[in-house]
Amino acid sequence: MNRSLDHTTSLRIAIQKSGRLTDKTIDLLHGIGIEFDNYKRNLMVKTRNFDVELLLLRDDDIPEYVQDGICDLGFVGANEVFEKNTRVNVLRGLNYGNCRLAVASPKDSALVNPSDFEGKKIATSYPFLTKRFFEDQGISIEMVEISGAVEITPQLHVADAISDLVSTGGTLKANGLVERFTILESETKLIQTQQALSEGKQQLIQKFLQRIDGYQTAKKSRYILMNAPLSSVETIKALLPSMKSPTIMPLAETEMVAIHSVIPYDQFWDVMEQLQDAGASDIVMLPIESMIA
Ligand code: PRP
Ligand code: ZN
Repeated sequence: MNRSLDHTTSLRIAIQKSGRLTDKTIDLLHGIGIEFDNYKRNLMVKTRNFDVELLLLRDDDIPEYVQDGICDLGFVGANEVFEKNTRVNVLRGLNYGNCRLAVASPKDSALVNPSDFEGKKIATSYPFLTKRFFEDQGISIEMVEISGAVEITPQLHVADAISDLVSTGGTLKANGLVERFTILESETKLIQTQQALSEGKQQLIQKFLQRIDGYQTAKKSRYILMNAPLSSVETIKALLPSMKSPTIMPLAETEMVAIHSVIPYDQFWDVMEQLQDAGASDIVMLPIESMIA
């Protein structure tokens, strides 16, 4: 069988060249075992061990590249997917690169609620989502379409308010603007083209998804180890929020055991105190690199 790189099976994946999503997307790809380098210098990068090539693009262009089938998959913010109103399949929400498209006005402004914006000028790089938001509420606004530095427009009297991405809120604050309401909550999405794909590509995508799911589950989980008296085992088992039964191992010291389990990270601190109360000691928590069920 010919297993050489061939364009009917090689997957092409679009990622953001530099910006909010880049580092975490690169970490995720490395985390699922895809090896490559020189992504900072090249626009197209071949991976060494997976039938995948990466295309490094401006995030704004990614939805269309995927829609048109130039790339099979793409990692891009929901903000771009929905602003471009593209026909793509959203395979996964990845819970990083979180931000929101929000409306902000100067801090002393009377523009606070959506209805205050009737007839006002709003500057944005997200005209589609912004227009639709106000239209849905029967409010007509004047759109000022701008591709960058939107936050400066109220000071220049180019607009009364803005609709822009907010993450930490630092940019708004630095420009004397106050966030008023949210139009769209955004996170990184993994999207797939709706163009027909070869059997080989479909299989690769399944494999890719399985690895991403394993990576994501691992990120949210921790491996926990502790020692406990044999008499506490039942209480401890009941406290552990793990899906599966924990591993219990005898220790050299009689009447003591080691208990190992995997638990959701967000429950670790709550559970840890209860475990101590139940008699557990030497509690250790470790990160997990990947998990395949
Ligand atoms: C957005 C937005 C602001 C900044 C807000 O730009 O236009 O400039 O992020 O972030 P903050 O609330 O943490 O200050 P982004 O970096 O996404 O660039 P892009 O829209 O040009 O891709
Ligand atoms: Zn952008």
